[in-house]
Amino acid sequence: MADTRKVAFLVGSLRSASLNRAAALHAHGFFRDDTAVTTPDLAEIPAFNQDLEASGTPAVVTDLKNEVARSDMVVIFSPEYNYGIPGLLKNAIDWLSRPFQAGSLIGRAVGIVCVSPSSRGGENVREQLLRTCQILTDRTYGTTLGIGGVTELNDGVLPEDATRALDKWMKSFTLYATSQTSL
Ligand SMILES: Cc1cc2nc3c(=O)[nH]c(=O)nc-3n(C[C@H](O)[C@H](O)[C@H](O)COP(=O)(O)O)c2cc1C
Repeated sequence: MADTRKVAFLVGSLRSASLNRAAALHAHGFFRDDTAVTTPDLAEIPAFNQDLEASGTPAVVTDLKNEVARSDMVVIFSPEYNYGIPGLLKNAIDWLSRPFQAGSLIGRAVGIVCVSPSSRGGENVREQLLRTCQILTDRTYGTTLGIGGVTELNDGVLPEDATRALDKWMKSFTLYATSQTSL
């Protein structure tokens, strides 16, 4: 029997009505039963501190690293905060980048999505995430997805044109990821 494909979603917003969390929930449905999807909780990840790392990586961080390291694909769903990456997400990525040149994202296919009220679809955060992820894995998908002009959820779900765009992008990202592996 073929191995179960594993996917980790990293969500850069803790908001209950988060557009980006809704995008992750929708994307979960994209995968079939042969894929295990996890969405690690980033809320409890402590602020990165090299002293903390040296004295013993906290268990919640080790769990996060393991979840990511055993994934074939990682999809980041993140808002743009002040033209950049939300601290919650950047902090998690900083932990995942360790140890230097042996981080948990190495070998993972990474895709980047931003859903935003702005018509620019979070172009700054996508560009910054792209630059950061490209130094942490050589399998970062260069085509990021920005879904702009979404102001709120309808009964917890994204508007149909947004989910259509997400489905299309998920298809091409998955093709990119699988074209480089035997998955
Ligand atoms: C602290 C903060 C900073 C923000 N900065 C930006 C920004 O630079 N560009 C932008 O397009 N939207 C910005 N926004 C608006 C967010 O894109 C919007 O609130 C979005 O819905 C947040 O994502 P979420 O729905 O997944 O929580 C900011 C929101 C907050 C709370």
